[in-house]
Amino acid sequence: MTAILQISDTHIVHEGALVSGRLDTADALGRLVERISGIRDKIGAIDALLVTGDLSDGGTAASYDRFKSIIAPLGLPTYVIAGNHDAREPMRAAFAQDLPASGHLDWSRRVGDIHLIGLDTLVEGQGAGALSSDSLSFLQAALAQAGGAPVLLALHHPPFASGIRFMDKIGLTNREAFREIIADYKGTLRIVCGHVHCMMVTDVAGHIALSAPSPCSTFAYDRRSDAPVGFYTQEDGCLLHRWNGGFESIRIGPVAGPGPFPF
Ligand SMILES: [Fe+2]
Repeated sequence: MTAILQISDTHIVHEGALVSGRLDTADALGRLVERISGIRDKIGAIDALLVTGDLSDGGTAASYDRFKSIIAPLGLPTYVIAGNHDAREPMRAAFAQDLPASGHLDWSRRVGDIHLIGLDTLVEGQGAGALSSDSLSFLQAALAQAGGAPVLLALHHPPFASGIRFMDKIGLTNREAFREIIADYKGTLRIVCGHVHCMMVTDVAGHIALSAPSPCSTFAYDRRSDAPVGFYTQEDGCLLHRWNGGFESIRIGPVAGPGPFPF
């Protein structure tokens, strides 16, 4: 059994700052860390923490340091990928032990039974994402190296349309190239992403793909062409992906209500 906790879109800023003048994102992440710590003995062992992008809101070195100090109580090996709010070089410096020394922040590693792959979709200076030709080649090679192990594949921008128009306008621009590679993959593959600050489950070229919620905010599921552009302050939790002969993905809510009460 292998379990990987996925937290996404934490948008940490420096001490004293609020995102968009409104969100205390460090506080929100701190509460989620507390919540997870409080249920650790109930949910079983966790092997690693995967953070699927937008760790930082502005990509500063100080925000990555703050992020690391907030998640430190979890005591988990932590693997990160870049989101559109991240900045590649400060992120590389902050996680130097696990990220490549140069080029895109693509990586793969074995965590227990799982072959974990992280892809870099960041195009600095824009919200939309893309997989470079290097990252697409990396993906092909990393899948070939899985050797039959179940693959958990992480990228920040969902390789599917969410229906939230203003987010889809800054989606993954070369979804087709990604789809072509994974369509040929015959092993077990689960795709996990962030960016849309809400949980969605879909199928991409025959593989299950999920987006994770964000601890700090969400976007309304509003398909109208004139849907207002912006975020809601609603806080959410994270996902736990367990390999137990098959993948199970469990949403962990941000707060616990009172209980249990007898039926
Ligand atoms: Fe985000």
